[in-house]
Amino acid sequence: MDDGQKPIAYDSSDATTAAWVASLGENFKTHRAAIGVIGLGYVGLPLACTIAKKGFPVVGFDIDPIKVDLINGGKSYIAYIGADDIAELRRTRRLAATVDFARLADVDAVVICVPTPLTRQREPDLTFVTQTTESIAPHLRRGHLVVLESTTYPGTTSEVLRPILERGGLRSGRDFFLAYSPEREDPGNTDFSTAVIPKVVGGDGPEALRLACAFYDEVVTRTVPVSSLEVAEAVKLTENIFRSVNIALVNELKTVFDAMGIDVWEAIDAAKTKPFGYMPFYPGPGLGGHCVPIDPFYLTWKAREYGVTTRFIELAAEINTAMPRRVVDELAKALDRRCGKALSRSRILIIGLAYKKNVPDIRESPSLRLIELIEEWGGKAEFHDPHVTEIPSTREHMAIKGRRSVELTEAALKEFDAIVVATDHDAIDYQTIADHAPLIVDTRNVFGRLGLVRETVVKA
Ligand SMILES: NC(=O)c1ccc[n+]([C@@H]2O[C@H](COP(=O)([O-])OP(=O)(O)OC[C@H]3O[C@@H](n4cnc5c(N)ncnc54)[C@H](O)[C@@H]3O)[C@@H](O)[C@H]2O)c1
Repeated sequence: MDDGQKPIAYDSSDATTAAWVASLGENFKTHRAAIGVIGLGYVGLPLACTIAKKGFPVVGFDIDPIKVDLINGGKSYIAYIGADDIAELRRTRRLAATVDFARLADVDAVVICVPTPLTRQREPDLTFVTQTTESIAPHLRRGHLVVLESTTYPGTTSEVLRPILERGGLRSGRDFFLAYSPEREDPGNTDFSTAVIPKVVGGDGPEALRLACAFYDEVVTRTVPVSSLEVAEAVKLTENIFRSVNIALVNELKTVFDAMGIDVWEAIDAAKTKPFGYMPFYPGPGLGGHCVPIDPFYLTWKAREYGVTTRFIELAAEINTAMPRRVVDELAKALDRRCGKALSRSRILIIGLAYKKNVPDIRESPSLRLIELIEEWGGKAEFHDPHVTEIPSTREHMAIKGRRSVELTEAALKEFDAIVVATDHDAIDYQTIADHAPLIVDTRNVFGRLGLVRETVVKA
């Protein structure tokens, strides 16, 4: 470990599996076990900090040297993780970061938090997971606990990770221990930090389960053991598919109620007064983020192997994917009817580029799609986002890369023919927009919520 930290080294090659379990379990209990976290992104960095704050020595591994340097320099690159926290963990020598995977030999448990995106054909892309497992394999030793946290389809840990890790002759459940525990991070959610979100854990055999639970018991307030790796993998998909389907449902209800002249937000607000059997979900311009638009496809893909189709899940994805186009249709209609203008000759300002409020994350954001659709129509689209200064390089939206957030001033607002609120960040001056924008297309009902009722506001 960095800075003279001394890890617990395992070197009792003739110890029995039971002895490994007992001794590693004890080191988790006493927080003496050294923990490696691979992938220091939105999930891995908060997790590494949480584990380190509990007193474990933590080494973070990433292939991005900029992130590694920032952490080692006591700085943060995630808005809601304070640089003070990282600096304090560095000062007390509980957190270090590295690009050198040979240092995996120094840790007792390895937690994998790397991305699980989709390919262009919208199939699971496990490249990051397999690359990471290949990086662990040469350094795997007896007594290691390896936990996958990345969201994926049931079967990944046993079918993809285990064969790579066993290639060197060590056996899962006998020599090393393999587990899956889905990440439940909700970036920007100040009510639930990593440490207070219960952790579901599945193990490859009883010893792996016992050890993984022993570890997470020390890190989070509640550990929920399940009977297998596959059940644990299925739990995460269940949670995110539940969201995708319910969001699709309210998006569809919105379309129906609109046609009937009923305000869907008013209906939802009244429905949620029912104290049982109902949970509110809200319509919007489409799904975004690394999870909800992507994860259902992991199950859909795997289901085909079993000859099962997932029509309901795919229908939800279809409805959600169609939302940006629907918003642009509503925008074109409103411009035409209210202002006598064609979208093809209009300048539109999108408010909020991030996929959800108060975070800078633009992955899969429907706002990117809105910009493209408006420009396909012949209009001109710009954006304002207090958390995103510039559109970074993305796999699917290279044509709009480098565009910068415009300033939200009274004068600037008057230069646009319409404003589309795609993401209702708190740090937006909605009063100024309400007072000066000629037309506002609100996909989040933020003006309704704030009581800024104006003739110029259209809910979409
Ligand atoms: N972001 C969320 O809100 C969230 C919530 C729950 C679950 N998840 C899941 O957690 C996983 C990670 O997501 P994230 O949002 O933290 O991703 P992220 O892109 O923010 O971070 C991933 C990190 O992994 C690093 N990385 C990539 N390949 C690597 C490799 N081979 N070795 C070491 N590091 C590597 C990247 O440089 C990056 O720092 C995904 O499976 C995601 O579905 C994310």
